[in-house]
Amino acid sequence: MAELGHEVVGLDVDEKKVNLLAQGKAPFIEAGLPELLERNVASGRLKFTTDPSLIADAQIHFIGVGTPQLQGRLGADMTYVDQAVATILEHADAPQDGRPVLIAGKSTVPVGTAEGIAKRLQESGKEIILAWNPEFLREGYAVQDTLTPDRIVYGLPEDQETGRIAREILDECYATALAADTPLVVANYPTAELVKVAANSFLATKISFINAMAELCDATGGDVTRLAEAIGHDDRIGKKFLGAGIGFGGGCLPKDIRAFMARAGELGVDQALTFLREVDTINLRRRDHAVNLAEEAVGGRLVGKKIAVLGITFKPDTDDLRDSPALDIASRLWARGAELAIVDPAAAETLRERRPDLTVPETVEEALDGADVVMILTPWKEYTQLDPKVILPLVDTPNIIDGRNVLDPHEWADAGWNYYGMGRTVSVW
Ligand code: UGA
Repeated sequence: MAELGHEVVGLDVDEKKVNLLAQGKAPFIEAGLPELLERNVASGRLKFTTDPSLIADAQIHFIGVGTPQLQGRLGADMTYVDQAVATILEHADAPQDGRPVLIAGKSTVPVGTAEGIAKRLQESGKEIILAWNPEFLREGYAVQDTLTPDRIVYGLPEDQETGRIAREILDECYATALAADTPLVVANYPTAELVKVAANSFLATKISFINAMAELCDATGGDVTRLAEAIGHDDRIGKKFLGAGIGFGGGCLPKDIRAFMARAGELGVDQALTFLREVDTINLRRRDHAVNLAEEAVGGRLVGKKIAVLGITFKPDTDDLRDSPALDIASRLWARGAELAIVDPAAAETLRERRPDLTVPETVEEALDGADVVMILTPWKEYTQLDPKVILPLVDTPNIIDGRNVLDPHEWADAGWNYYGMGRTVSVW
């Protein structure tokens, strides 16, 4: 937002993060973000603080706090959103320049949340109005997705005049993107809330669909990567998000489909989303399958076998370990008695801190040394570009499990490796 010319104050309760950000340093890995932070903090347009009084004169308050999965339940934890609204209500000076102040909700929330917040704002008697403005950025592409979004969605209040003012304020905020003809979809609150979870549910469904096809390929000797390529040529299906492997993870897709199911249950329409239960189940079964493949590769028992795990984050180009399929698989292998050596270009340090029980060597060579099985679980290019001939002498037994179907099976097989794909065999075709 600062890069787009706005004056921005970032408020957070986490002092450590705020201090880093205030120095122009990103507290996580995200391509292009350090340069943006540095430039905009230096220009004075971007400030970070833990002091809520500094948000007093803002025209728009974006709520971007987390809505993680509740402990032991499927639903979303709304504590942080509730606290953010309370903070804004307490500290915002409304109106601003003769107009009401706008809260723009970005957090992924159960449908119906916006209506509840709008009611709270109305009851407060302050001139604060609400819009729901969901966020579609992907980790690893967050800067690009924010500066040049593929669509913008406004969820506006039903009252026409209030809605008109909310839209006017948002239009000013997104002027650059709108001038570049970014598609804008204007709807009511529930639609905007649903758009977000519908989008993530669709993506999750697409991944589980192709993973279900991988199971069929495994049962029949088919190759799911060829299958995905062939169906992807149909524009109506499309090539993207048809990568079969160990399945989806991260801080969004898994918890969003679960919270969506929980909300549908509360609304009495749980049947509409029972298919998401299957999407979740197929996805989790991929992790079991990866563990079973490792067992198969060592001929039965994993106890005392050395497994090199390459990549541990939930996807490449991030240091995020939230609900990482790779970490889950590694933990299960460890619980079954395997000796693990895990490497990751971004999360090694964090993993050492959080999981002192796991061995995290400095180099890939150390991880490969004497391995009985090598598993590529996150497709960092450092690992997908490894030369099978060069690394062969390092391992004890040349078993390679390609957890993301990113290697060339022939190249690895020709170099002397036993190749295990996910719904993929070494075929002459
Ligand atoms: C996801 C959505 O893609 C964003 O549009 C959304 O804004 C974001 O969640 C959010 O709700 O905030 P992200 O969590 O960054 O973004 O990750 P994705 O790129 O969607 O990948 C999710 C998982 O699916 C990863 O574990 C990835 O490895 C896996 N995946 C992805 C596959 O297994 N196969 C594929 O073909 C693609």
